[in-house]
Amino acid sequence: MPSVISQATGPGRLSATLPFAASPTESDPYVYQCGFGNRFATEALPGVLPNSCNTPQRLKYDLVSEQLNGTPFVSPRASLLHAWFYRIQPSVVHGHIRNLPPNVDLQAVFSKSNPEILCSPQDRGWDPFPIPDAEKDIDFICGLKTIGGHGDPTTKDGLAIHIFAANCDMQNRAFCNHDGDMLILPQQGRLDIQTEYGHLMVRPGELVVLQAGMRFTVSLPDGLGRGYIQEIYGSHYELPELGPVGSNGMALPRDFEYPVASFDIDRSQWQVVVKLAGQLFSYDQNHTPYDVVAWHGNYAPYKYALEKFINTATVDRDQSDPSIYCVLTAKSKMPGVSLSDFLVFTPKWSVTRNTFRPPYYHRNVATEIMGVIYGTWGGSSTHLSPGGLTYEPSYMPHGESYERWKEATAADLQPARVGEDTMGFMMHVSGHCSLTKYALERTGCLQPVQEAKWDDFEPGLLKHLDQIKADLAEAGLPGLSTITK
Ligand SMILES: [Fe+2]
Repeated sequence: MPSVISQATGPGRLSATLPFAASPTESDPYVYQCGFGNRFATEALPGVLPNSCNTPQRLKYDLVSEQLNGTPFVSPRASLLHAWFYRIQPSVVHGHIRNLPPNVDLQAVFSKSNPEILCSPQDRGWDPFPIPDAEKDIDFICGLKTIGGHGDPTTKDGLAIHIFAANCDMQNRAFCNHDGDMLILPQQGRLDIQTEYGHLMVRPGELVVLQAGMRFTVSLPDGLGRGYIQEIYGSHYELPELGPVGSNGMALPRDFEYPVASFDIDRSQWQVVVKLAGQLFSYDQNHTPYDVVAWHGNYAPYKYALEKFINTATVDRDQSDPSIYCVLTAKSKMPGVSLSDFLVFTPKWSVTRNTFRPPYYHRNVATEIMGVIYGTWGGSSTHLSPGGLTYEPSYMPHGESYERWKEATAADLQPARVGEDTMGFMMHVSGHCSLTKYALERTGCLQPVQEAKWDDFEPGLLKHLDQIKADLAEAGLPGLSTITK
C-alpha cells in the first residue's frame, strides 16, 4: 500500500523520495495524501505551485490563482481553514444565476415557522429508504431528502440530517452547498466523487466530508447509490480530544485520505447547482469546474474507512459512555457543547464482568439518529436494518426490551465477539431535532409507533417485599408501607 519510494542517496544509505500516499485498490482507482488536518500541496503538472507566495504576478501556463476559505481571515491560526487553487479559468466565469423549482423534500430551516417541520418527542423508525426505479433518472442532487435537524444555515447554527437515493450520474452537473459541511455515508453502492481538489471513490463502510463552498459531482459506478448525510452549519468536523485515552486510539489522523490534484481540459457545457438556505439555484458555464491543476491548503475534502477505527471500549467492568466511539465531532456555539458527535459501532470483544452489557436505560440531552451500513443490528428495542434509520428524541427514555433485560441480568458472562460483520453509526446531536413532513408522511417506509414496547416490564422489587421487611426489621428501621389499588 505505501508508495514511499526509497533510493540510494549515498553509500549504504536509503532515503524516501516521496511522502506517504495511499495507493489504488481493487475498489478504488485513486491515490490519496494522508493525515487529518494537514496542509497539503499537490500539483498535476510539475512546477505549477508558486514558490514562497500564493499569488505571483504570473503563473506557469497562464493559470489563475483563486482562494477558497472555510473560516474568516482573522480566525485563530489553529482553526484557519483555506486552500489556494491554480486553475485554468477562475470560478467567476459563469452565466447568470436562476432559481430552480423548489424541492419540498429538501429542507434547511428547522423553526416552527416552517410548515414542513414538525416537533415531537415520539421516537420513530424507518425501514430501508426506497431507491428510485429505472423509470426516472434521479441523480445525487435530485435524490436528496431531509429527515430532520435544528437551527438555520443563514445564522450558521444547527444541522440537518438527509438521506440520498439515486440511480444515475450527475452528468456535466456540479453541486455546491453554501449551507454547510456534509458528512456523507454511502450505504449501498460506491460514490465516485470528482472535486476541484481531485477524485475520491467512497464505498459503503467509508465516510467522506465535503465542506461548504466546494463543488463536486457524484457518479455511481455500481449503478445506484443510497446513504446518509449529516450537514453541519457554521462549524467544521474535527477529531475529538483524546483526554485520558492518550495519543493513540480511536480514529488515527494518518488514516484520513485527501485527493491529489487532477484536472480536465473540457470546454463542454456544465451546470453548477447551488444550495442556499435549502433552496436550489443554478448557473451554466462553457467549461468544466474541475480545471484545478494544482492546489495547496488545509480546507479540503477527505475520506476515512470506518473499519480502521480503533475500538477502545471497556475491557474490565461497567460501561464507557458512547463518546468512546466518536470518529468526528463538531463544535456548537456553546462552549464545551458539541453540535454533533459522529459515532461508529464496529466489531469488538465484550469481556466485562459483573456488568449489564447491553446499553443501559437512559434519557439523554442528545437526540440519537442511528443507522446501519451493513450487517445485523443487535439491539432489541428498535427495528433497524441496513438502509433504514431510527430517531430517539432528546430526553425521551429508551433501552432494551424486557426479554433482553432478563437475559442480560441472568447471563453467564463470558468473553464474546459482538457486532461481527456489522457496522452501525450514530449521529449524537446535542439537542432537539425536528423532523420533516417528508420523514413523517412521504417516505413510504416509516414504521408504526411501538406503543406498548415496554408494557410487559415487571417490577422485580415486588417479588422481594417479605425480604425487604425482614431486612428493615433486622436493621431497626421503620416498616415498609405500600400503596395498592
Ligand atoms: Fe440512546
